[in-house]
Amino acid sequence: MGRYALLILPSANRVYADASTSLTVAELEAFGRSVLGGRIAGAAAATIGGVPYVTFTADRIDARDAALLANLSSAYALFRIEDDLLRPVALHPLDRFDDDLITIQKYQGKTNEQFTKLLLNVTLLSSAFARDMLERKFSVIDPLCGRGTTLNQALMYGFDAAGLDLDQKDFEAYSAFIQTWLKRKRVKHHAEHGPVRRDRRVIARRLQVSLAAAKQDYKAGLTQRLDVVNADTARALEFFRPATFDLLVADMPYGVQHGSRTAAGKLARSPLGLLADAAPAWCALLRSGGALGLAWNTLLARRDEAAGVLAGAGLKVMDSGPYLAFAHRVDQAIMRDILVARKR
Ligand SMILES: C[S@@+](CC[C@H](N)C(=O)[O-])C[C@H]1O[C@@H](n2cnc3c(N)ncnc32)[C@H](O)[C@@H]1O
Repeated sequence: MGRYALLILPSANRVYADASTSLTVAELEAFGRSVLGGRIAGAAAATIGGVPYVTFTADRIDARDAALLANLSSAYALFRIEDDLLRPVALHPLDRFDDDLITIQKYQGKTNEQFTKLLLNVTLLSSAFARDMLERKFSVIDPLCGRGTTLNQALMYGFDAAGLDLDQKDFEAYSAFIQTWLKRKRVKHHAEHGPVRRDRRVIARRLQVSLAAAKQDYKAGLTQRLDVVNADTARALEFFRPATFDLLVADMPYGVQHGSRTAAGKLARSPLGLLADAAPAWCALLRSGGALGLAWNTLLARRDEAAGVLAGAGLKVMDSGPYLAFAHRVDQAIMRDILVARKR
């Protein structure tokens, strides 16, 4: 049995404060359960040479296991513990682009990028397609995408990304950012940005981009798609076809920076009304075996209430083991948790 030590990204302590270790342990367990055949055991905090790590045991970590674990949202480095020495395990994450794709944009109300990666990972690991994490071009939708933190992480992984947001400023800011970034990085792409018309009326604005990290892939048509709509999330099925997404990931309004707009146009602090309005459409967007992952402020809505809405939409809510270990305090007004459910 081998012992391993995972060094957590220094930024994780800034983002999560005291919770960085417990969140890493929970995410590691989610990887262990779904893609490492339950071979990871005893994940716990440890201090080695005065530096905090998360240690665990596994009968072996082969190259594929390491390639999967390289994508842990807080992974900085992984070592195998041999006697009292640390032997590095090479980590090659999926990352396709420079990481400033995810870090450059700074704005109030941005979902922290490390947390966004955690939420996307845990959602992916809960889908029926988890074992294909390294090969599948997942299609991901964030139906409350703001200025695109989830979309950028999905692109980073080589996936297709779609999004909806009601806020026109957020839509235009993201649209400008991504097009400038793609040009500046000389990423081969084609973008279309403009109004969506129905019966001669403008019903939304939309940005559609096809891109590829490598020029030869673009030429061969091996592209990633980015498709963002400025509209109410409850209208998602007017813009996206049902059963076409593997993963739906959203950070619900916290009632601090953003309120939740319900179908009736009301601005509410609790995200439950928005969730109830949108859940049928969100569920319809997922293909069978797809998974949905939400983050929200538990000071505004209880976990069992949010879970009840998802179950009511016909989803199977994950409610055991690591899934109950992601709650953490963000600040005085926000206690954040995640809820993951799978479409049968
Ligand atoms: C917590 S923020 C998401 C931030 C995003 N993850 C990011 O990093 O930019 C929640 C988002 O939900 C959006 N929103 C609230 N009600 C909505 C609705 N009914 N339809 C679409 N978007 C909505 C807000 O405009 C806000 O951008």
